Amino acid sequence: MRSAPQRLSQLLLSLMLLSQLCSGIKWLALSRTPTFLHVNQTQHCKRLEGLVSSQVQLCRSNLELMHTIIQAAREVKKTCQKTFADMRWNCSSIENGPNYLPDLERGTRESAFVYALSAAAISHTIARACTTGDLRLCSCGPIPGDIPEPGYRWGGCGDNLHYGLVMGSKFSDAPMKMKKSGSHANKLMHLHNSEVGRQVLQNAMEMKCKCHGVSGSCSIRTCWRGLQDLKDIAMDLKTKYLSATKVVHRPMGTRKQLVPKDIDIRPVRENELVYLQSSPDFCSRNDKLGSVGTQDRQCNKTSNGSDSCDLMCCGRGYNPYTEKLVERCHCKYHWCCYVTCKKCERTVERYVCK
Ligand SMILES: *[C@@H]1O[C@H](CO)[C@@H](O)[C@H](O)[C@H]1NC(C)=O
Ligand SMILES: *[C@@H]1O[C@H](CO)[C@@H](O)[C@H](O)[C@H]1NC(C)=O
Ligand SMILES: *[C@@H]1O[C@H](CO)[C@@H](O)[C@H](O)[C@H]1NC(C)=O
Ligand SMILES: *[C@@H]1O[C@H](CO)[C@@H](O)[C@H](O)[C@H]1NC(C)=O
Repeated sequence: MRSAPQRLSQLLLSLMLLSQLCSGIKWLALSRTPTFLHVNQTQHCKRLEGLVSSQVQLCRSNLELMHTIIQAAREVKKTCQKTFADMRWNCSSIENGPNYLPDLERGTRESAFVYALSAAAISHTIARACTTGDLRLCSCGPIPGDIPEPGYRWGGCGDNLHYGLVMGSKFSDAPMKMKKSGSHANKLMHLHNSEVGRQVLQNAMEMKCKCHGVSGSCSIRTCWRGLQDLKDIAMDLKTKYLSATKVVHRPMGTRKQLVPKDIDIRPVRENELVYLQSSPDFCSRNDKLGSVGTQDRQCNKTSNGSDSCDLMCCGRGYNPYTEKLVERCHCKYHWCCYVTCKKCERTVERYVCK
C-alpha cells in the first residue's frame, strides 16, 4: 500500500506529464453537442466542449461555420470507428474526448491516424457544405480551366476544396499553434500528420459526371470536380497508418526536427504518417497505455485478415454464440409492377474473443 501523499504526488506527476502533451483533437468532443443547440450567437461559443481559446475566437468570428464543424467531428468519430472495426484498436477511446485515453495522448501511430483524419474531415465537410449551399460565405469551387473531352462539359457545382482547406486548417491546427501548450515534438508530429491528411484529401478530388441526352443516351455529360467520400479517404490513411514511420526529435541544422528513428538518414516524407511512441499490441487491458483489450470483441473464423479469430483474440481462443437473422426471401414479382417477399429466419454462428 502506498501512502496518501505518495499517491498524491504520483497524481500530480501524471497531470504534469499530461499537460505537457499537446492535445489538438479535443474539438472532436463537439460530436457530443446536443442537436438542439443552434450555434447562432457568439455567447454560444464558450459553451461548446473541447475548444481552446483561439478556437473560441474563430467560433465567434465564423459562427456560420460551427454547424459544419460539429458535423465534421461526428464524421471523424463514425469514420474512425468504421475504418478500424476489424482491428484490435477500434478507435473506441475517441468517445472519451476531450479527455482522451493514453492511446490518443501519447504521440502514437493511432493518434497520427486520428489527427490526419480529423484534418481531412473538417476540410472535407466545409468543402461540401459550400457546394450544398449550407454556407453563405462560400459557394461552388472554381470551374477548371482545361477543356474536357468532346461530349463532356463543365457544369454543376464542384466542391470548394480551397475554402475547405483554408478554414479547416485554421480551426483544426489552432491548438498546435498556441505558444504555451504541449511539447515541441508533439506539436510538430500533429502538424505534420494533419498536413498528410489534407494532402490525401487534395488527391481525393476527382471528376464526377452526370449523363444527359435523349432517354439517358449519355450523349452529353456534365462534369464537375468533387471529393471522394470520407470513408475512402480514411482507407488511404489506414494504409499510411500501417506503414507509419517512427521518428525522434533531433537537432537538424539550427533547429530541432522530427527525423526517422531508423538508420536511414533522410528527412521525413511529406506523405507518410509519423509517430513518436510505440503502441502496445492492444491484446489485453492496460489503462496506462490506453488499451481496452479485445475480450468480447467479435471475430471472424473464416477470415485470415486482422479480424480473424486468431489475430483478434491474440491466441486466447474464442466463444461461439448464435444469432438469428431475419431476411426477405421467396420474393415474387407481380405484373405490373411490384414485388412481395416473405420473411425468413436464419441462424448464424458468431464468435467473440475469450
Ligand atoms: C438561433 O436559433 C434558434 C433556433 O433555431 C432561434 O430560435 C433563434 O431565434 C436564433 N437566434 C438568432 C439570433 O438568430
Ligand atoms: C471496441 O472494442 C471495445 C472493447 O472490446 C468495445 O467495448 C467497443 O464496443 C468497440 N467499439 C466499437 C465502436 O466497435
Ligand atoms: C468473414 O470473413 C469472410 C472472408 O473474408 C467474409 O466473406 C465474411 O463475410 C466475413 N463474415 C463476417 C460475419 O463478417
Ligand atoms: C488467406 O489464406 C489463404 C491460404 O493461406 C490464401 O490463399 C489467401 O490468399 C489469404 N487471403 C487473404 C485475404 O490474405
